[in-house]
Amino acid sequence: MGDIRERILSHLENNEDADTLFLAEKWDETHQKIVGAVKSLQIHEGIIDAEQKVSSKLELTKEGRAVADSGSHEALIFNSIPEEGILQSEIMKNVPNAKIGFNKAMSAGWITIDKSDGAAKVLRKVEEITDSVQETLKQLQNGTITKLSDSQFKDYKKRKLVTEVKVTIYVLRKGPNFSLTIPEPEKDLTDEMLSTGSWKNKEFKPYNFNALGIMPQSGHLHPLLKVRAQYMTIFLEMGFSEMPTNNFVESSFWNFDALFQPQQHPARDAHDTFFISKPMNATKFPEDYLERVKKVHAEGGYGSQGYKYDWKREEASKNIMRTHTTAVSARMLYKLAQQKPFKPVRYFSIDRVFRNETLDATHLAEFHQIEGVVADYDLTLGDLMGVIHEFFKKLGIQKIRFKPAYNPYTEPSMEIFSYHEGLKKWVEIGNSGVFRPEMLLPMGLPEGVNVIAWGLSLERPTMILYGINNIRDLIGPKVKLNMVYNNPICRVGIEQLS
Ligand code: PHE
Repeated sequence: MGDIRERILSHLENNEDADTLFLAEKWDETHQKIVGAVKSLQIHEGIIDAEQKVSSKLELTKEGRAVADSGSHEALIFNSIPEEGILQSEIMKNVPNAKIGFNKAMSAGWITIDKSDGAAKVLRKVEEITDSVQETLKQLQNGTITKLSDSQFKDYKKRKLVTEVKVTIYVLRKGPNFSLTIPEPEKDLTDEMLSTGSWKNKEFKPYNFNALGIMPQSGHLHPLLKVRAQYMTIFLEMGFSEMPTNNFVESSFWNFDALFQPQQHPARDAHDTFFISKPMNATKFPEDYLERVKKVHAEGGYGSQGYKYDWKREEASKNIMRTHTTAVSARMLYKLAQQKPFKPVRYFSIDRVFRNETLDATHLAEFHQIEGVVADYDLTLGDLMGVIHEFFKKLGIQKIRFKPAYNPYTEPSMEIFSYHEGLKKWVEIGNSGVFRPEMLLPMGLPEGVNVIAWGLSLERPTMILYGINNIRDLIGPKVKLNMVYNNPICRVGIEQLS
């Protein structure tokens, strides 16, 4: 039967106008279907004019449908009367809706009552009847007629056989751009349409702003990278520049010795540190600096008595996986010391470190450290506390306390605590200190230059921020990729650090 839209157009080609209800009846389609076709024609500017109107439509009630099926009440009465007549009481008992049917049949002149024998007897008055009520309702039902005369409508409505329902219809006429063919609107604006100017005469499919877009094909940042980006922003805002951290393998020299960590220190044990077997040893060191490091360990100097032990190059040359990013800070400070004249610096790093730990829910053999370093003349412990305050303030952390601690390379050393409003207690959030002269002076940094530094882990705030309780769900081979895809961007704040 063809597309309803096309049928509407060809109907309008030959007719002045048409309303949707009329077309629905004519083509034996539901009104809804015709209206749908009109709506989709309206997308094409000016192809049709559709004037909205409220019209009423007659519908049969349940009782009306019963009458259309099996006859009017009066006809049922008439049909149940045998030739010889029947007792009125009998008929009233057995025929449904007998009371109305009886009255109607009486006033139609179809039946009569004979009381000559005492009891009232009902008799047919005519030979046959036409049940015009049933006929009319049937015609309404199948659409042969759509209207009733005023008096008929009043009567049927009173008898509750029909009701009037309001329908929104459209009166259709040819539009200014009327055409028998439906233009297919363009879905995309191409560069060719732009360059030839053909877009001017084209019709475009309107945007559907409610449609869900296609998920862009893109990478997803791991939560650690998102949190790292925020720390990085804070450092950059504070004027820090990033240190190159792209060497996971480090010599013991830079990881420990340069930091004035004695060779017999327990952290240098294979239980705490991963040693590299191939190549087992590093060979290139700044020899004069190495000599000064050896001396400060073995004999002391720069006002220090040293550790007084037999420092071995063999131990210092052992390759390891770096255990902290302070190894990178040591390399950078040594490099800085070689540049004369000395210029103050602010450095930061955020990268991976490795420790031979027993693995559990919060410990992995590798994790990330965040480290800040400031080198300048006459820096004091007050400067360190101040810069740490400023750094954590940028994360929304105001209440900070320091607790004396020990690191081989800093003196004084302080653990950083912040007050956790949720847990209502002070929790450790980092470590810090002023680098020792035994570390800085052998590097060649001028006397009077002090270096302050602090460090924290990246995993801890990230796990709290993303509600991850097991570190193995955040990083490592057991990580589910959906964790990476679905996690939003989270901002670091006080609640997340501890
Ligand atoms: N390197 C220390 C650690 O691994 C952190 C730290 C950095 C401490 C800088 C003092 C100064 O925990």
